[in-house]
Amino acid sequence: MNKPQNRVFSGVQPTGNLHLGNYLGAIRNFVGLQDTHECIYCVVDLHAITAWQDPKELAANTREVAAAYIAAGIDPEKHIIFNQSKVSAHAELAWILNCVARVGWLSRMTQFKDKAGKDREAASVGLYDYPVLMAADILVYRATHVPVGEDQKQHLELSRDIAQKFNNDFAVNGGADFFPLPEPLIMGPATRVMSLRDGTKKMSKSDPSNWSRITLKDTADDIAAKIRKAQTDPDPLPETVEGLEGRAGADNLVGIYAALAGIAKAEVLKEFGGKQFGVFKPALAELAVARLSPITGEMKRMMENDQGYIDATLEKGAERARAIADPVYKRVREIVGFI
Ligand code: TYM
Repeated sequence: MNKPQNRVFSGVQPTGNLHLGNYLGAIRNFVGLQDTHECIYCVVDLHAITAWQDPKELAANTREVAAAYIAAGIDPEKHIIFNQSKVSAHAELAWILNCVARVGWLSRMTQFKDKAGKDREAASVGLYDYPVLMAADILVYRATHVPVGEDQKQHLELSRDIAQKFNNDFAVNGGADFFPLPEPLIMGPATRVMSLRDGTKKMSKSDPSNWSRITLKDTADDIAAKIRKAQTDPDPLPETVEGLEGRAGADNLVGIYAALAGIAKAEVLKEFGGKQFGVFKPALAELAVARLSPITGEMKRMMENDQGYIDATLEKGAERARAIADPVYKRVREIVGFI
């Protein structure tokens, strides 16, 4: 079985409120990898139900993530876009990897601790086990590279540990080096976009305040209003990147500008250093609208008029994904000793 050299896998959960962090930290980087890699982009609906999802909303949110992928510029003919639950090998491999991963490893996952909150006993078993399914997503394609935002780094380290332990545990039966250790790709100046209301908190889908995030459904007016209200401080912007230290809100907005413009933060400060937020915020709003509105407009069009195209794309993508995943899983079955 040939080992792929340049295979990318990544996923986004269809839990609604797709936001600027998802776009700058992940989806935009997915687009950039298409010329150099074979890419598989998944809408991870099995992950979404680790917390309760209204079934009707789950279906709409699944289509919305697929629409975002396509509208952002991922080519579903050249690469693969599909939703996870359509390819059963993910869940099947996850079970085997459950028996490789250790409880102690999962107990260290900070995202579980954050998401489960104080009442850990009441969290779903799926939420705890979530990173093992994530490892299965990647390994069932023997993917080599995984573009993600900073918050997924720990999960990717776990995926590498699981791959390594599987290879060792089953070396006796042809498993040595079977899974590549996937490399995280955490790229660009906005790997961790922060809340617009609190620059020390990550921008997230689940923040109760809609003012905390720019979503891929926001209109131009929404975007401008949210940036105008974004938390900053009274000082003008610094001349250097070091000057952003201790100024979380300012740092976040400069990072967003840099990522949207495709330049480094230092270059943003060359232009805006010494200027007040009264000057910088309107410039940022203009840039954000210019970059995002073609994407949000196309998403809206697809969601309103072209659901058939989205569903057909996911179905075709799943078929092509199965053609890669099923033989890998079949080989895993042999390695493990299943007949
Ligand atoms: P999810 O749906 O929470 O987020 C999707 C992607 O967006 C990135 N991201 C951010 N980047 C920058 N700033 C932020 N504030 C921000 N918030 C989210 C995430 O890092 C992610 O890349 N477990 C994953 C989904 C997943 C996956 C996988 C990813 C399932 N299986 C296999 C890679 C490979 C998640 O919950 O992403």
